[in-house]
Amino acid sequence: MTKLIGVVGAGTMGRGIAHTLLRANYAVSLVDSLPEALGGAQQAISSGLAHDVEKGRLNAETRQQAFARLQISAETDAVSQASFIIEAVTERFEAKAEVFRKLELYCPSTTIFATNTSSISITRLAAITGRPGRFLGLHFFNPVPVMKLVEVVAGVETLPETFEAAADLARSVGKTPIRVNDFPGFVSNRLLMPMINEAAFAVMEGVAEANAVDDVMKLGMNHPMGPLELADFIGLDVCLDIMRVLYDGFHDAKYRPCPLLEKMVYAGRLGRKSGRGFFNYS
Ligand SMILES: NC(=O)c1ccc[n+]([C@@H]2O[C@H](COP(=O)([O-])OP(=O)(O)OC[C@H]3O[C@@H](n4cnc5c(N)ncnc54)[C@H](O)[C@@H]3O)[C@@H](O)[C@H]2O)c1
Repeated sequence: MTKLIGVVGAGTMGRGIAHTLLRANYAVSLVDSLPEALGGAQQAISSGLAHDVEKGRLNAETRQQAFARLQISAETDAVSQASFIIEAVTERFEAKAEVFRKLELYCPSTTIFATNTSSISITRLAAITGRPGRFLGLHFFNPVPVMKLVEVVAGVETLPETFEAAADLARSVGKTPIRVNDFPGFVSNRLLMPMINEAAFAVMEGVAEANAVDDVMKLGMNHPMGPLELADFIGLDVCLDIMRVLYDGFHDAKYRPCPLLEKMVYAGRLGRKSGRGFFNYS
């Protein structure tokens, strides 16, 4: 029988997760409180599945079947039949807490809850629910249909069988799960964000221009993308938020956000999405 997975949040990540699940034969119930987000997600998933046909990953028939397994809804209770639910709403504690409070009311106690948070404490979110043993982080990377890694984040109370179910799910959609424990930024952002932040300091202190900083990392360290181009891709506001989580979480000055990064965010220079960040995209 086709397994149903619930995905709450149909933005960049939620739609990518839904697409990845659908092409791996799962049925998906995708929820978002904004009708525009649901419409956009349906379109993006449809063209993503068409791209899979071009690349030979699906044929015309399996593409149609995959798309037919997608249900969308603006009501959170639409996911109540799913045995595994992945939350991918806005990166704010209260937004996520509201979703999990509702899910707790609608879902049987056996349902596993996963959050795709980049930085919020898994243990803190799990404590909102009555099932901290069946709660964990499942941190996918953008663009989800392409990126191989999933950080599987165990909170203090996460049960081994919950971890195994999540790792199996990740493997079944072609991803490589890596186990990490619940500390600010997990592994990925704890290493990546300080590098981006330090690159911003290098520009601020006049060590080099932004393109020179990026060229050093591309040509000397074989990085496919320089840290500042990557920061523009992620969004400078997102980078700043994650630096603040690291700084607040560790109380260590080595994570202090770079003042240039703060200034750029205040000026609305958020990177690709606003047309300007360390580089100009207009
Ligand atoms: N964008 C990335 O590169 C990236 C990478 C890894 C993890 N993440 C994490 O994934 C999560 C989602 O990020 P995103 O980039 O997709 O954000 P996004 O802003 O593109 O999408 C968030 C969606 O959540 C919806 N939403 C908000 N509150 C809701 C509610 N109560 N019920 C239902 N829907 C609700 C919004 O309408 C929006 O469509 C965040 O936790 C983020 O940290 C993002």
